[in-house]
Amino acid sequence: MTPIDTTWLNKLRGRFIVFDGPDGSGKSTQFTRLDGLVKSAGIEVCEVREPGGTYIGEQVRRILLDPSNTDEVDIRCEMLLFMASRAQLVAERINPAIKANKLVLADRFISSTLAYQGTAGGIDVADILRVGQIALRNTWPDLVVVFDVDLPTARKRMSPLLRENEFDATHDRMEIKGAAFHEKVRQGYLDQAANDPERYLVIDARDDEDVVFDRLIKGLRAILG
Ligand code: TMP
Repeated sequence: MTPIDTTWLNKLRGRFIVFDGPDGSGKSTQFTRLDGLVKSAGIEVCEVREPGGTYIGEQVRRILLDPSNTDEVDIRCEMLLFMASRAQLVAERINPAIKANKLVLADRFISSTLAYQGTAGGIDVADILRVGQIALRNTWPDLVVVFDVDLPTARKRMSPLLRENEFDATHDRMEIKGAAFHEKVRQGYLDQAANDPERYLVIDARDDEDVVFDRLIKGLRAILG
């Protein structure tokens, strides 16, 4: 059998790649798979997830995702908390890793804020980008991979036993916002990709994980050459 050619993966050194998409898109599963492949090729990876990823950020995460905070959090406060957690993550982990020529793989980044607090939450996307300039300084991702999925498929993946608009203790504060909100989130990602096709790669994530991983690898190879 011919060994799989993984030399192209070397082009990932020193890059900053974000995996993003609606809840239930399967992005975290794909994240783990790519992470494993890249490491097996001998490339150092810095994995981060948002919100959180630092000691300070994990505390912010608890406030943001606690379902008992449902009505209290003003949308602008929410946006700034996500961005605050991100500023810490960039300074403490992402920038040093890029400098050390590692691949930075992020599970969510500012693209999530643009979709959830912007398109779905109603904050002007230009305002979020302005706050982003302050929080990130110049650390924008080289590539954002969006795992696109329709709502019924996402829902089935997250809670196979529950009906639409039924929730249980495993759901966080963002997940219980309802179908109309999550439709807008999906559209928010697609709009970002349409507006910045050089930086975004949209992967159809409705199929099973092997098929989606194959699409991901083909997409990355096409971009990295
Ligand atoms: P997770 O389920 O991928 O850990 O993400 C946590 C939730 O937070 C998810 O529902 C998406 C949401 N979120 C935002 O609303 N804005 C953001 O900026 C980020 C990073 C996540």
